[in-house]
Amino acid sequence: MTSSTPLSTNAHLLKWVEKMAGLCRPAAIHWVDGSQSEYDALCRQMVEAGTFIRLDQERWPGCHYARSDASDVARVEDRTFICSLSKAAAGPTNNWVNPFDMRKKLRGLFDGCMAGRTMYVLPFSMGPIGSPMSQIGVQLTDSPYVVVNMRIMTRIGLPVFAEIDRGDRRVVPCMHSVGRPLEPGQKDVPWPCNTEKYIVHFPETREIWSYGSGYGGNALLGKKCFGLRIASAIARDEGWLAEHMLILGVEDPHGEKTYVAAAFPSACGKTNFAMMVPPASFRDRGWKVWTVGDDIAWIRPDATGRLRAINPETGFFGVAPGTSNATNPNAMATLARNTIFTNVALTPDGGVWWEGMTDTPPDRLTDWQGNPWTPEIAKTTGVKAAHPNARFTAPAAQCPTIDPAWEDPAGVPLSAIVFGGRRATTMPLVYQAFNWTSGVYMGATMGSETTAAAAGAVGKVRRDPMAMLPFCGYHMGDYFHHWIGMQKHLSETPRVFHVNWFRKDENGKFLWPGFGENMRVLKWIVDRVRGRALAMETPIGWVPRYCDIDWTGLEFPPEAFDRLQQFDRAAWRAEIIGHEELFLDLHDRLPKEMIYERELLICRM
Ligand code: GTP
Ligand code: SPV
Ligand code: MN
Repeated sequence: MTSSTPLSTNAHLLKWVEKMAGLCRPAAIHWVDGSQSEYDALCRQMVEAGTFIRLDQERWPGCHYARSDASDVARVEDRTFICSLSKAAAGPTNNWVNPFDMRKKLRGLFDGCMAGRTMYVLPFSMGPIGSPMSQIGVQLTDSPYVVVNMRIMTRIGLPVFAEIDRGDRRVVPCMHSVGRPLEPGQKDVPWPCNTEKYIVHFPETREIWSYGSGYGGNALLGKKCFGLRIASAIARDEGWLAEHMLILGVEDPHGEKTYVAAAFPSACGKTNFAMMVPPASFRDRGWKVWTVGDDIAWIRPDATGRLRAINPETGFFGVAPGTSNATNPNAMATLARNTIFTNVALTPDGGVWWEGMTDTPPDRLTDWQGNPWTPEIAKTTGVKAAHPNARFTAPAAQCPTIDPAWEDPAGVPLSAIVFGGRRATTMPLVYQAFNWTSGVYMGATMGSETTAAAAGAVGKVRRDPMAMLPFCGYHMGDYFHHWIGMQKHLSETPRVFHVNWFRKDENGKFLWPGFGENMRVLKWIVDRVRGRALAMETPIGWVPRYCDIDWTGLEFPPEAFDRLQQFDRAAWRAEIIGHEELFLDLHDRLPKEMIYERELLICRM
C-alpha cells in the first residue's frame, strides 16, 4: 500500500486511519490537503476514468458533469439506520439494528472493500473553522467524486487538520465506501456502487458508516449523516438544534434585516426560497432577500437568550429540474461556474440542460442515462432528460445574494421559523401559530407529499415532522420535548408560521404563482414579527386577510386568495386523524403539550 505524507500529527487520527486501511485494504492512501491543484488533478483523473465529462469551458468554466449508475440516484431511507444502544432511543420512525450486530455486518462489508482503489483521508469542518458552533469530521472514502463534492459543500483540508492537531476537538469518524473492490487488472466502471447499501449512524459513539452508494446524502457524509442525524443527537445533549432548514435575511426599506429559518422537506423549495428575488415592485421600494443557507441550520441560544443560526455548509447541493432564470436566477448565476452537475442532460456542444431550464429543450440531447433524448422520444418512453433528483453542486460564495454575515462564527439572529410542505389540498398559503407550543405542534404534525429526493413512491402525503423524518438521529417524541424545552432558554421567542406554495385547483394547476411572488407572504411574516401587520384569528392560527398582503404589481383577485386560504373543515378532520396516527406511533414519549394542543385545535374547530 502506498501513502501520501500524513498531513496530521494527531496520534488518534493516525492510528484510526491505519486501522481502517487495514480493514478496507486500499491500494493507496491520499491525505487530502484541500488545494485547488489537488481538486483539479482529481477532476482530470475522473475525466480519464470516464466518471466526469468536462463541460465546454467557454460557457461553463470550471464545470464538470457526472452520470450516476441508474440504481444510485437518491437517498435510500429504507437502508438508513440509527444504531443507538437501545431501539427505544432511535424511536419508531427510524430503522434500528442492534449496534453489535450492525458492527459485525459492517466489518464484513468493509473487509477489503477498497481493494484496487485509493482511500482519501478527508478532514472537514461543518461551520466556520474555529467557530464555537462548528463540528469536525474526517471522512475516509474511496470515491474521488465525493472528495471534490465535499470540497464545495464543506470546509476541508489543511486548516481542518491544523484544528484537529490542536487536540482539543472531538472528531466524528465517517467511513465511506462505494462497495466495489477491484481485482488486480480489473477495469473500473464510471460510477462504482453496490446494490447492497447501508447508511449507518451510531449516535452514542458519534460514528458514521456508509456503504454501497456514491450519491448525495448517502455519500457526502457531512450533510445529512453528520449535519443532521449525528448533529441532532449532539444538539439534544448540548441544548441546541440541528435542523433541515434554509436561512435567509430580509432587508426592508428601513434597511433593517430580519432573519428567517424555514423547514421544508426534501425538494419542497428551500433552495428557491433562500435565494428568492422579490418582484420588481418590492425591489423598487428597497426590499431585498439575502441568502445564508439552503439546507441545514444549526441553531442555538446566545448569552442573551436570542436564537442564532449558522449554515454549516459552504455549497448548495441543489435540485436542478425546475431551476431557471425565471424561477431562480440566483441559483443560475451560482451554478454558472465551478459546479458539478450530476444526472442532468448533456447538450451536443458540452453544455447541460434539465426540465424547466428553458421552455424548449435544445436539439440532440443526451439524457441522464446516456441515451439520445428528444421530446418525441420522451412522449413514447416517458423518460425525462434529467433525472428528477438531478443535482448541481455549487459554491455558496458564488451566490449573488449571499449574506455578508453568512460565515459569521456567531451566526445570525433568528426572528421567525417557517414550516412548510408540499400539499395539493387542505393547507392554506400561510398561517401563524398562536405561540411557541402551538408552533411546535404545527411543525411536529407537518405533512408533505414525497418527492424524488428519496428512493420510493413520489406524491404520497406522509407526516414529516419539522421536515426531519429522514434526518432525526433519535426518538421523534424526545425531539418534540427538546423543541418545547428550547423556549425556557430564550429571552425572545421567534414567531412560527406555516406556508404551502403547492395548493392545487381541481384541474391540478397550482393556485399560487410561487417563487418570487412568495415575497408577498414573506413580507407579511416579517411585518408580523416586527408588529407591523394585522391578522385574523381562525381555528388553526392567525391568517392574513386579503388586505393584509401587499399585492403591488400583481393581479391577484380576492376570490383567488380566498381559495388559497380556504379552511376546509372535512379536510382538516382527516388532517387531525393523520396527526393522531403519528402520535400513536410516538405515544410513549409524546410530550403532553402535543396532546393538549391537539385537543385545543379540535375544540376550536
Ligand atoms: P432539498 O435540496 O432536497 O432539501 O430540496 P429543497 O427544499 O431545497 O427544494 P428546491 O428549492 O430545490 O425545490 C424543489 C422543487 O420545487 C424545484 O423543482 C422547484 O422548481 C420547485 N419549487 C420551489 N419553489 C416553488 C414554488 O414556490 N412554487 C412551485 N410551484 N414550485 C416550487
Ligand atoms: C435532501 O434530500 O434533503 C437533500 C439532498 O438535500 S441529499 O443531500 O441527497 O440528501
Ligand atoms: Mn435537504
